[in-house]
Amino acid sequence: MANIWVRKSTDALAAEAAHGEAGGEVRPLRRTLSALHLVALGIGGIVGAGIFVLTGHAAAANAGPAVTLSFLFGAVACAFAGLCYAEMASTVPISGSAYTYAYATLGELVAWIIGWDLILEYAVGAIAVAIGWSGYVVSFVRDLGISIPPEFASSPLAYDSTSHSWSSTGAIINLPAIAIVAVIAWLLVIGIRESARFNNIIVAVKLVVIFLFILFAAPHVSSANWVTHANPQGHFIPPNAGEGVYGWSGVIRGAAVVFFAYIGFDAVSTAAQEAKVPSRDMPIGILGSLVICTVLYVAVGFVLTGIVPFDRLNVPDPIAIGIDAAGVGWLSPLIKLGIVFGLTSVILVMLLAQPRIFRAMAHDGLLPPVAAKIHPRFRTPYVSTIVSGAAVAVLAGLLPIGLVGELVSIGTLFAFTVVSIGTLVLRIVNPGLHRPFRAPAIWFVAPMGALTSVFLMFGLPIDTWVRLAVWLLIGLAIYFCYGARHSRVALAA
Ligand code: ALA
Repeated sequence: MANIWVRKSTDALAAEAAHGEAGGEVRPLRRTLSALHLVALGIGGIVGAGIFVLTGHAAAANAGPAVTLSFLFGAVACAFAGLCYAEMASTVPISGSAYTYAYATLGELVAWIIGWDLILEYAVGAIAVAIGWSGYVVSFVRDLGISIPPEFASSPLAYDSTSHSWSSTGAIINLPAIAIVAVIAWLLVIGIRESARFNNIIVAVKLVVIFLFILFAAPHVSSANWVTHANPQGHFIPPNAGEGVYGWSGVIRGAAVVFFAYIGFDAVSTAAQEAKVPSRDMPIGILGSLVICTVLYVAVGFVLTGIVPFDRLNVPDPIAIGIDAAGVGWLSPLIKLGIVFGLTSVILVMLLAQPRIFRAMAHDGLLPPVAAKIHPRFRTPYVSTIVSGAAVAVLAGLLPIGLVGELVSIGTLFAFTVVSIGTLVLRIVNPGLHRPFRAPAIWFVAPMGALTSVFLMFGLPIDTWVRLAVWLLIGLAIYFCYGARHSRVALAA
């Protein structure tokens, strides 16, 4: 058995960054992405089902108008982790994200665990958003008078977290969810530059939708709308009504729920080998997209709960409810269409990230070499894109969104925790390493990144913890059966 704690040397990583690939046996990726592309990639991956769907749920069930504070708390946790990601992405500009950072700092076993865990963030994240996409498309085409039969547009399975049991919904398959994943996977196979261009257009549409909403709704904001049955005095933070229901505990639970809305900024780091000047562009891409999204989320949360009493917001399309309340219902179809586009770009970014992580893992020998294959003409990791696209499509056709969304959040928070710790470890074990971007006050920022992430994980239900544990155990079994025996780094050490 090879040394499972072996670390990838920073020299080896620098060589890979400089030459595209160590060994030169596979073709390098193309460096075509500018800082602006990366910010757009970040926004493309971040703004999605979280803001357009979960805001309403978090306001109605957990935080009331103080969902604005939940967004701020979520942003703080992401900012600490984001600073660590930015330092890592500028120092270790290799595709592979948290996986590569862990390899350089905490050793191969931890790297494998993180790589395996990231499947929950990217592939399972794409599943969640594809299911949300399907819901919005069905609602949009219904407005146009076209009805898609529900048995072909929803999950055949339902999970009851109280009784921990599965049941059948009577539906057969979620065909729109499968279709969107198939189209996006095809786009990603034919080329990263074309995909980035497509993404830029969608990001623009998504931002216009949000600005239109804020513009038309803001003049109608009134604290009179904070008054509900549960909040007769109209407080900004409604009185607590149980663990996680209003009051401060509700604000925190709300933060764990809307955390999903921030997932995606770290996907920027997976495109490090396709960035023109990674040392400068990576921090701009990661932190720039995070700041822009935080401002937008806080504004949308404030405006939405200011024009509609929060107890009416627990619906799949809260933004459309807000638009109606602002008296501009004619905008509704346009907004729904914008949201459909918006969710499309989130799926795109997630399906862009997943194969690049598989590719990095295969390159290191932890997955079979076929997963690292680059297409001779398109220069994209086509085998892993097709395989992950197919798996995501099938599962998006079968699974319910709630269960999938919680898994994504816990998996991502776990990755944030490890990256934050890894950044501090690398500062300690290799203080002299050239770091084009240094996170400020690292002894504060890195521990806070880990602590705030773990804190939010405790906001999620126990079932989700169990699923994370089972997933990681499966990963460990695969590592010891395959990766530990084929690891290129360990064999060379
Ligand atoms: N942040 C992404 C979304 O909200 C995952 O859809």
